[in-house]
Amino acid sequence: MSNTAHDQEWVRKPGEAANGTACTLDQYQAMYSRSVDDPDGFWAEQADRLDWFEKPGKIANWSFDPVDIKWFEGGKLNICHNAVDRHVAAGNGERVALIFEPDDPAAPNRHITYADLQREVVRMANTLKKMGVEKGDRVTIYMPMIPEGAFAMLACARIGAIHSVIFGGFSPDAIAGRVEDCQSDWIVTADEGLRGSKKIPLKANVDAALAKVAAKAVLVVRHTGGDVAMTEGRDHWYHDLSADVGEECPCEQMDAEDPLFILYTSGSTGKPKGVLHTTGGYSVWTETTFRYVFDYRPGEIYWCTADIGWVTGHSYIVYGPLQNGATALMFEGVPNNPDHDRFWQVCDKHKVNIFYTAPTAIRALMREGDAHVTKHDLSSLRLLGSVGEPINPEAWRWYHGTVGHGKIPIVDTWWQTETGGIMITTLPGAHDMKPGSAGKPFFGICPQLVDGDGMVLDGATEGNLCITHSWPGQARTVYGDHERFIQTYFSTYRGKYFTGDGCRRDVDGYYWITGRVDDVINVSGHRMGTAEVESALVLHPKVSEAAVVGFPHDIKGQGIYCYVTLNSGEEADDVLTGELRQWVRKEIGPIASPDHLHFTPALPKTRSGKIMRRILRKIAENEFGSLGDTSTLADPSIVETLVEGRLNR
Ligand code: WTA
Repeated sequence: MSNTAHDQEWVRKPGEAANGTACTLDQYQAMYSRSVDDPDGFWAEQADRLDWFEKPGKIANWSFDPVDIKWFEGGKLNICHNAVDRHVAAGNGERVALIFEPDDPAAPNRHITYADLQREVVRMANTLKKMGVEKGDRVTIYMPMIPEGAFAMLACARIGAIHSVIFGGFSPDAIAGRVEDCQSDWIVTADEGLRGSKKIPLKANVDAALAKVAAKAVLVVRHTGGDVAMTEGRDHWYHDLSADVGEECPCEQMDAEDPLFILYTSGSTGKPKGVLHTTGGYSVWTETTFRYVFDYRPGEIYWCTADIGWVTGHSYIVYGPLQNGATALMFEGVPNNPDHDRFWQVCDKHKVNIFYTAPTAIRALMREGDAHVTKHDLSSLRLLGSVGEPINPEAWRWYHGTVGHGKIPIVDTWWQTETGGIMITTLPGAHDMKPGSAGKPFFGICPQLVDGDGMVLDGATEGNLCITHSWPGQARTVYGDHERFIQTYFSTYRGKYFTGDGCRRDVDGYYWITGRVDDVINVSGHRMGTAEVESALVLHPKVSEAAVVGFPHDIKGQGIYCYVTLNSGEEADDVLTGELRQWVRKEIGPIASPDHLHFTPALPKTRSGKIMRRILRKIAENEFGSLGDTSTLADPSIVETLVEGRLNR
């Protein structure tokens, strides 16, 4: 099927969706035009839904050349106030903010109202203060998917500390690198996490990380009750330290451009970057995108299956929903435990109305057959969402047909850690959908497709996706390395933000993300730099060189394919394969576990010593017919050896 075969596969919007939606097509068009013609007026109005201690004097003030991005200057606010306190003050304290669904379906749920949330966040905030945390300090949060993770984020925001959340699947080495990079003296963690009844040794991982870098104090939430070592003077149980803290903790008045959080993400080169988001723009962006994209109506139950360790969890479990006064479900477990119907069982149990997940989960569940879905009612569902990677039309149709009974709209939301929130999506009720296409730009977003030389491509075309105008939720810098921020995002195409994604635009102006065009791979929706996996591999004493590429994987979207050259005298065998796999898991974390290790006597290099990754990608994809010109290789015969190696596996 050709790339464009899906262009005219419209899925008509169901009548139900047009009923009371936030936005009709005409409204979208009018609002979109206004948002790009008069961004100051448009964003001032959106920002008005939030509480400000002081209103901003200026709305947009940015330049992409030189790079300097500011929004809502002069404004003072606190995102924790907007996510928590103002709902209580408005008399909605008894509304449920978070529903906690634990890993074990038989374990008790928790329903946390906005009033409870306020108490819990104040308690956590005062505990952090008691430890010595001050405004501007960096606090590392390494937590399971339990409400205390959200409390910790909101508590940091409340006192003006900058949180850096690290996904629980990262290794001690990865934690150490991130703690060191942002000089974080404080860590919040739990004894253990639970995923599919497997215990994740969070505190032990922190201990191992702190053998390499120093931290002043570690706050430990008791969750599983498992045995953990506590270092005298450094480690504190949360329940002990918080026992006598006060019940008052006013929200710090933050400048709009004060940092809110750092989130580490992978790029094509080097170590993960600490993407930095600031307070005002991020607040407005997550509040507005959540409101329009999910068309949230009071009383509804909203569930995003992401982990708070990723940006999706930040923006669409914590800050977006809570600023809107929504009820968000937090799920600790995994989709296939105790059985492949866990998602649907939870949807029915809590009468979920809006469900937001990743294509990798959809594909994995689709493979297990329809019966897991059809045995559940699912009649509460009203809107489905997808995020993290391109969704293939087959998975889209299954999601729409089997999960959505053929009548529920799907929002396929394209965005990135750096964009803070959703950038391209259809809006339910406003837009018709095409399976596999993210759809149209959100308010204020000006996408542009360019060719390799930066020539602007018009009309129906395919190219590299850039964004030409700033939006409130845009990352402001890379923590501690503004030059890297400029180099990574604004130097490939000067004066434009380059996303790193390839993209097609069809005749109807719908955008179809085709995947990364740089050396970043997307494994089960987890973003990973091939350079990171390579660095991990070459640290092994037997490895001389490594080159890592992505290859198409039925469930994960992309898998990790590693070409490895051993030091002379070393033998490749199954034992070493297992050892290298373990090695990468230890260096980065289980999410970076290689799918294929391909031992080769050499890598294909040009005469100047540059590895020709294009060839390695094609071979990993089994595309031997289109290897292109190999004549510039120092030793063209290596290609044959590599192809043979591929065919033998
Ligand atoms: C990919 C996750 C196609 C894309 C929010 C992007 C998508 C990277 C979609 C960012 C989508 C995310 N369709 N591709 N709906 N959503 N991506 O920073 O390649 O973890 O650049 O942010 O995921 O990943 P990140």
